[in-house]
Amino acid sequence: MLELSKRLSLIASHVNEGSKVCDVGTDHGYLPAFLYLSGKCKSVCATDINEKPLASAKSNIERLGADGVRLVLCDGLAGVTRDDADTVIIAGMGGEVISGIISRAEFLRDNTVSLVLQPTTAAKELRQFLAQNGFRVERETAIAENGKIYSVMAVRFSGAPYDISDVQSLIGILTPTDDDAIAYIQKQYRIAQKCADQLKCAANKQDEYNYYLSLSEKLKNILGG
Ligand SMILES: C[S@@+](CC[C@H](N)C(=O)[O-])C[C@H]1O[C@@H](n2cnc3c(N)ncnc32)[C@H](O)[C@@H]1O
Repeated sequence: MLELSKRLSLIASHVNEGSKVCDVGTDHGYLPAFLYLSGKCKSVCATDINEKPLASAKSNIERLGADGVRLVLCDGLAGVTRDDADTVIIAGMGGEVISGIISRAEFLRDNTVSLVLQPTTAAKELRQFLAQNGFRVERETAIAENGKIYSVMAVRFSGAPYDISDVQSLIGILTPTDDDAIAYIQKQYRIAQKCADQLKCAANKQDEYNYYLSLSEKLKNILGG
């Protein structure tokens, strides 16, 4: 059986039995191959905007015998409909790219569609986009891999935009309940603290200094002081 990395395993664990899944920006194709071979999905498709990664997905999928995975060359979900997918994975891309893909796929504005999102950068901007556009984060898990720390979000459209604080846009709904979540929050704390330190003695930057100081104190409190 194909063994996934810790990050991809966590993402795969968000896919429910009997779902129709689409992996957007699949690249190597390991995730759709694993999901197909697990037998837990009704159907599995995968997209990529670039020919080279899609060819690499095709080759891996064939080698692994996951021949029921449908591959689509397209931008985001442009070649996929609601009939093809009730679960959409968008992982390993920047938060802005993920937001763009969600914006362009009208069928995701449906509370029966589950989204599994894993930004590599700009998680803050992604969380702000989700809040402004009425996508609720139902579950969030941090995962450390190869010296990096990521967040995996289980998201669903609610139609009701909501406000999020600056702290929430940095750490989402993570709480310091496991080592990886603690590491994620600590990273945001260190960044805010560094910004405050750099602004401390800068002329005319008192407001910015106070902002980062307050942010770092709030994050420190979440970590338990
Ligand atoms: C770093 S790989 C991530 C692969 C895999 N999803 C993962 O998490 O390991 C990013 C992939 O997304 C694809 N990609 C980037 N923008 C895309 C878009 N708008 N639509 C579909 N695929 C896209 C790239 O071609 C690349 O293969």
